Amino acid sequence: MPNPDPAFPIESLRRDTPGVENVIHFNNAGSSLPPQIVVDTTIGHLQREAEIGGYEAANEAGARLDSVYDSIAAFIGGRPDQVAVIENATRAWDMAVYGYPFKVGDRVLTARAEYVSNMLALLQLQQRHGIEIVLIDDDEHGQIDLTMLERELAAGATMVSLTHVPTSGGLINPATEVGALCAAYDTFYVLDACQSVGQVPIDVGEIGCDVLSTTGRKYLRGPRGTGWLYTSDRALERIEPPFLDLHAADWVTERTYEIRADAKRFENWETNFAGKLGLGAAVDYALALDMDAASARTVRLGELLREQLQTVPGLRVHDKGAPSGAGGSGGRGGIVTFDVSGFDSDALKQALSDRSINTTSSGAARAHFDLGARNLPTLIRASVHYYNTEDEIDAFVAAVADLTPS
Ligand SMILES: Cc1ncc(COP(=O)(O)O)c(C=O)c1O
Repeated sequence: MPNPDPAFPIESLRRDTPGVENVIHFNNAGSSLPPQIVVDTTIGHLQREAEIGGYEAANEAGARLDSVYDSIAAFIGGRPDQVAVIENATRAWDMAVYGYPFKVGDRVLTARAEYVSNMLALLQLQQRHGIEIVLIDDDEHGQIDLTMLERELAAGATMVSLTHVPTSGGLINPATEVGALCAAYDTFYVLDACQSVGQVPIDVGEIGCDVLSTTGRKYLRGPRGTGWLYTSDRALERIEPPFLDLHAADWVTERTYEIRADAKRFENWETNFAGKLGLGAAVDYALALDMDAASARTVRLGELLREQLQTVPGLRVHDKGAPSGAGGSGGRGGIVTFDVSGFDSDALKQALSDRSINTTSSGAARAHFDLGARNLPTLIRASVHYYNTEDEIDAFVAAVADLTPS
């Protein structure tokens, strides 16, 4: 088959990624294979900590640590002072949402595929502050229904909380259209971009979100235990961190303190410096790529995988999302969920793993409003990245067919 992306530097990207020699890695929505520069940067700093001391190594790397904020800001279109580096996407999101000054009766609009931990937090905030959680239904493509969203915004809402690319299934929600509606109704907009950063180009100005949270290890290909929070100026004014430390605030006099002005107010003093530098290396790696081309490739590989899987007898793909072009800024990406009639998904995942093919599984207990409402059993989640290949897709589909004889 002729190469559909002749200009895409797939050979060099794979040369940069030692893990591709060992496994077919279709667990990029779990944690991607990092490029060697991320590994070298992270280990290099740990080595310096061992050689000269942890505080001293951080001082030595001061300029590089500062530049991580510049890289992140350049990658998503914000300013460095609007970025906090936080240990994962969940805590980044929590710092903003738990810090939001909710009042009894505030309405928070969210969608069916909202991430499980966000839902748990909203349920706790409902109990704690008496907020109301309003579930916006799916449209005919399984995306957030923009008509219902507008109706509920018009009825009055404090916050919209949207997961851009949900945990399970191909869906990319139309984040930009949601942002335009939030702007029209002057509503605070929180975007969980944990699975979209690195998978689709992100520009916070274009999307119009007040808060964006993400993780390092997924489509960005950074180290585990890293992530960040972006906060707009309005978010910085409105949100006080739910807890403070000596990095977030100054103890000014015996009985007073002052919270710092920038987004670092949401960080901890103690952090994983090696991980932070590795995260910076991952962002720089992504900045050096043509993100539009990388994203188009991920989307194309996702579609190819969906198409080829449908040829396996008894296999059903369960992804939501509009076919390309039909969903505004939404659509379908590189995450593919399926099951095979008569076969247990966890056992199939294990059998694939025994053949050095990495996937994961998703169940309704973590997605009551989505997988649960659709009465779906546990599904296999195979998530491709731009560095995967058509040959890997062929091998994957052949393995699934072989392991699930009809
Ligand atoms: C949509 C979404 N949001 C948030 C998270 C949580 O990310 P982290 O594990 O970095 O906290 C995940 C993780 O799977 C996710 O899929």
